[in-house]
Amino acid sequence: MSMVRILTVVGARPQFIKASAISRCIKERFSGKIRENILHTGQHYDELLSDVFFQQMQIPAPTYHLQAGSASHGKQTAIMLEGIENIIKQDQPDVVLVYGDTNSTLAASLAAAKLHVPVAHVEAGLRSFNKKMPEEVNRIVTDHLSSFLFTPTHQAYLNLEREGLKHLHSKAVSADNPVIINCGDVMYDNVLYFEKLAQEHSTILKDLNLENTPFILCTIHRDFNTDQPQRLKNILEGLIVIAQTFEIRIIVPLHPRTKNTLAKPEFEDIAKQIQDNKLIKIISPLPYFDILRLLSCCSMAITDSGGLQKEAYFLKKPVAILRAETEWTEIIESGNGWLVDDDPLLLLNACKQGMEYLHGDFPLYYGDGDAAGKIIQTLIDYLQ
Ligand code: UD1
Repeated sequence: MSMVRILTVVGARPQFIKASAISRCIKERFSGKIRENILHTGQHYDELLSDVFFQQMQIPAPTYHLQAGSASHGKQTAIMLEGIENIIKQDQPDVVLVYGDTNSTLAASLAAAKLHVPVAHVEAGLRSFNKKMPEEVNRIVTDHLSSFLFTPTHQAYLNLEREGLKHLHSKAVSADNPVIINCGDVMYDNVLYFEKLAQEHSTILKDLNLENTPFILCTIHRDFNTDQPQRLKNILEGLIVIAQTFEIRIIVPLHPRTKNTLAKPEFEDIAKQIQDNKLIKIISPLPYFDILRLLSCCSMAITDSGGLQKEAYFLKKPVAILRAETEWTEIIESGNGWLVDDDPLLLLNACKQGMEYLHGDFPLYYGDGDAAGKIIQTLIDYLQ
């Protein structure tokens, strides 16, 4: 039997994390049946946003590297589109595998669809119902160009149904007749796999002097929070209030995008207040093991990241979400998350609930920890 040739396209930090679950699964259970080549678009290029994940999460080195770098959405996507098209022609894969909702995802699915190569979308069906988010545009386009749609949650599956996407078994698989499988979340596979390793290998609690000390983990990187000065100021003021009210430390590993914004003159005042605040500590972006370790041990998380919201949930931690809506609605419905937008008062209320929270129910919305196995088996079943 012939091997199924997968071309995996990744480019941004959350995609490296997701890709590690699939690559690990291929190596452990499907070698000989699958040939995976990885294409790194270079959307993220800083060592702390890229290389460190490949090393720590044992992701095979990319076969292709585009070095697209940072630019406006149009330019960045265009550079990647052209480069990915050339590589698909050269690599001749049976399927192009994409993750999530970044510009790398969009470029890869467009390039593949135009070359009539089937696209497999991992983390399909998520919707914020806010098309001002670049990610929402990327997701919708990618889902509608895909031949294989792997949803992480039942809600994501329902979202695709509502958009008219369905599979007829009597017809061949194609972008017009996509296979849709609710397989669970590859990020959940990863947390189960890496949690113990993180505990063994990460020294972050010691490094930050956090052993036996309560703390909150906070990340901020979304464009609507970093590129609208008043929103970022509101959030930072909120953090100062939280630190003082609860006398709790707040650890903030900062994305370069947010760091660059904070260096602008209009942020001088608030940046100084944060710097002078003994309870708030801004640090560089962290490798996966360190983030996992901090999440395992924190009192709660505050974030605008989709990935971190879920990882907090997997580790049974409450989370205040710095957004007006979320694609991961189960977290809110379960009572373990609160949408606080950029409102310091809502943030304060969420932290009150989060901090007084007696860890309750965290239903298993995200599969059984073997999303990757289901994805690979489906691709083999249809493509071999
Ligand atoms: C991208 C994704 C977002 C994802 C996030 C994870 C899109 C539209 N957005 O956002 O969905 O949650 O990745 O981090 O694809 N920069 C660096 N070094 C890098 C990369 C970026 O300094 O290695 C800075 C640059 O100033 C750049 C800015 O961050 O302009 C934004 O980078 P970009 O890749 O456009 O988007 P992210 O904000 O990282």
